[in-house]
Amino acid sequence: MAKNQKTKELKRILIVGNGGRENSIAWALSKNQSIDQIYVCPGNGGSANFAKCIRLKPKSEDQKTIINDCKRLNINLVIIGPEVPLAEGLADKMREAGLTVFGPGKDGAQLEASKEWSKALMIENNIPTARYWAAESKEEALEILKRFNQPLVIKADGLAAGKGVTVCDTIEESKEAIKDIFSGKFGSAGNKVILEEKIEGPEVSIFALCDGEKLIVLPPAQDHKRLLEGDHGPNTGGMGAYAPALLINEKDLEDLTKLVLIPTVQGLKKKRIKYIGIIYAGLMLTSSGPKVIEFNCRFGDPECQALMPLMGDEFASVLFACARGELESSPKLTFRSECSVCVVAASKGYPESPQKGEKVNISVESNPSLQVFHAGTTIDEFDNIVTSGGRVLSIVAQGESFDKAFDLVYSNLKKINFDGMHFRRDIGYQVRDKY
Ligand code: AMP
Ligand code: GLY
Repeated sequence: MAKNQKTKELKRILIVGNGGRENSIAWALSKNQSIDQIYVCPGNGGSANFAKCIRLKPKSEDQKTIINDCKRLNINLVIIGPEVPLAEGLADKMREAGLTVFGPGKDGAQLEASKEWSKALMIENNIPTARYWAAESKEEALEILKRFNQPLVIKADGLAAGKGVTVCDTIEESKEAIKDIFSGKFGSAGNKVILEEKIEGPEVSIFALCDGEKLIVLPPAQDHKRLLEGDHGPNTGGMGAYAPALLINEKDLEDLTKLVLIPTVQGLKKKRIKYIGIIYAGLMLTSSGPKVIEFNCRFGDPECQALMPLMGDEFASVLFACARGELESSPKLTFRSECSVCVVAASKGYPESPQKGEKVNISVESNPSLQVFHAGTTIDEFDNIVTSGGRVLSIVAQGESFDKAFDLVYSNLKKINFDGMHFRRDIGYQVRDKY
């Protein structure tokens, strides 16, 4: 076993990922005085913006190279941000190599990587969710659709970068979505399809840190998945978020913990899965009670960016304890009682074909309640920040009210520009008096 596994001192962290989520986690951890160094791998143009943070571009992105880098750098804690490396079993390989890792293994990551697996776990453990049917061929799926004779939500079973779900208003649309999936649009993620009853209601995301046994529930957050104002246009990874979401109060969160989160951990344990990482439940609050739309095996992005500024100073120690399976003896995680909001600035063409390589100018005010988190940016050979993806960066702010926090975000968005930049002006309309 590597010596890293035994040390209880958290000095050197490596965060895997290149998005706004990883940038915001690095920022939150960088405030901890006792941490010496934080690497973000492969990171982005903002990875080195915070104290002690360094962007680490690995020679290659294969698992062995990253593991060797972690050992060479004597990393005490690895945090794996995105779902793809989790679903590929990076956490397992790292643990086998003696590293301490926050993030589930390949088995637990099926919570997100297979919608069928995840739905079955919900049904087995009486976790409320929409009714569903799974099909392995186009014919079988069309047959199910014919039998129900109503528009169904069509989902590719596997990971499809947030694009595998079609919410259909007509049977014809459901047919088209089934054909699309089986035409190979999503590669092997579309070998199976899930047909789901369409449910209605506001959506909210809940998150818990899990050490395999114990849970710490974080404040709920609300995402804005649609590209355009008024919740129109195509689904995206998320155009903005705010926390805490007022749709559910403390008592509701306690109830949801009992209804959804605890049965999930128990269901995983029944399958002999020691799930270490984030359990993210996307919920719909329907007229017949809350239902789980999906589970994810990592922090939501941009929700994470709104949540990180709310984490108390114990956050780093709690993540470390969680990764070691020792939440029982970790300090209590506290949350700042502020309103935190995040608005994403996206590239022209996002989500279909984002324009890249545009120079980004940032001249926001210096304010401890304001953060700029980078996502699709990189640094070019002339040291300019340039766009390299669809969601380029986010402005995040905190305030005693949501209105104050959003005022700070929107006034500072005027101080950022790149060619083709666009953002939603109505993020948080649910909790704002004015917009
Ligand atoms: P997912 O990728 O599973 O989160 O789905 C993306 C979005 O599709 C969700 O945020 C919902 O807005 C919508 N959605 C997913 N499943 C359903 C469902 N059964 N009924 C209605 N809308 C759904
Ligand atoms: N914001 C939604 C997600 O991260 O899946």
